[in-house]
Amino acid sequence: MPHSVRAVIARAKGEPVSIETIEVPDPEPGEVLVRIQACGVCHTDLHYREGAINDEFPFLLGHEAAGIVEEIGDGVVNVTPGDFVILNWRAVCGQCRSCQRGRPWNCFETYNATQKMTLEGQPLSPALGIGAFAEKTLVAAGQATKVDPAARPEAAGLIGCGVMAGLGAAMNTAQVGRGDSVAVFGCGGVGNAAIEGSRLAGAHTIIAVDVDSRKLKLASEFGATHTIDSSQEDPVEAIRAITGGNGVDVAIEAVGLPSTYEQAFYSRDLAGTVVLVGVPSPEAKIELPMIEVFGRGGTLKSSWYGDCLPSRDFPMLIDLYLQGRLDLDRFVSETISLDQVEAAFEKMERGEVLRSVVVL
Ligand SMILES: NC(=O)c1ccc[n+]([C@@H]2O[C@H](COP(=O)([O-])OP(=O)(O)OC[C@H]3O[C@@H](n4cnc5c(N)ncnc54)[C@H](O)[C@@H]3O)[C@@H](O)[C@H]2O)c1
Ligand SMILES: [Zn+2]
Ligand SMILES: [Zn+2]
Repeated sequence: MPHSVRAVIARAKGEPVSIETIEVPDPEPGEVLVRIQACGVCHTDLHYREGAINDEFPFLLGHEAAGIVEEIGDGVVNVTPGDFVILNWRAVCGQCRSCQRGRPWNCFETYNATQKMTLEGQPLSPALGIGAFAEKTLVAAGQATKVDPAARPEAAGLIGCGVMAGLGAAMNTAQVGRGDSVAVFGCGGVGNAAIEGSRLAGAHTIIAVDVDSRKLKLASEFGATHTIDSSQEDPVEAIRAITGGNGVDVAIEAVGLPSTYEQAFYSRDLAGTVVLVGVPSPEAKIELPMIEVFGRGGTLKSSWYGDCLPSRDFPMLIDLYLQGRLDLDRFVSETISLDQVEAAFEKMERGEVLRSVVVL
């Protein structure tokens, strides 16, 4: 029997989201039905509703979620009904050329549920293959990662997207290690998670750069050792001054603008690493002197989803959270209901929140 549940739908480009009753099928082989307990509001949800990702309306939004497995389809072995899970958008296939080479975090053929959830008979496009602003959702089994149920759902769910992207940019992509100096450009949810990841990985100097003093205050709370308001001073010079004239070992860009990418590029030490996490608009271009790319050496990388492997990283991060070594609660600016998602988008655009989290 399909399940009729309330959900947040984006029906058309740029239009406010609405609450609708959708149909969620029972799981078939390889699928899992999850009762959602909490789901964070991520910038990507807003990108979907603005039509910036693709035109496959209507979208079922929400993808940063934790909940309880309610039913499993045949052949599912990684979870069982009653398990507390975080949903992920990297259910690796094990078969593609990247998985075959032992790099599943780059999997090119990730799984989603095969069956469609529907609105008035019309198939829905779930955000990032998840769709968790809903009382229940249907995902591929590999998209549900079991973690310690002692974690609060509203904090745990954040590991499912933005916080993982930031933590992983530092810990996995940049491979920050003990004794490294790091600068993070943009201190929203993702940038502040990169600051926490750098602290956990042993960085001794962590420099937060933002144009909003509210975000810099949060960055200090997350572990930044220095803050730079780049609307007031040149961050490249300020970073050089803090690092004895050298620049940082790792510069993480978490805004997605050419100007901040250039700042990151020029603020690193010789042989340093730049990691781009911010998602640029399709028109954005950067122009760099090629001799600087060559002469400075080092590494220029991009990071998708923090190069995470959910089955490896989510349980570990939840354990760190439960031990008090990873602060997830500070990312939860407010808890809201399903019908406050549109208002949460506005707060996000005004820079008032790190994360609004829907609690069901
Ligand atoms: N690579 C990934 O897998 C991944 C995953 C999730 C999000 N993202 C992207 O990461 C970026 C950040 O996401 P978020 O949720 O933290 O967004 P956010 O809007 O909460 O934070 C962005 C921050 O950048 C600051 N900022 C804006 N312009 C700036 C400038 N010129 N200089 C310095 N700081 C500036 C803002 O004040 C804000 O604090 C977005 O582009 C998002 O799409 C990437
Ligand atoms: Zn694969
Ligand atoms: Zn997201």
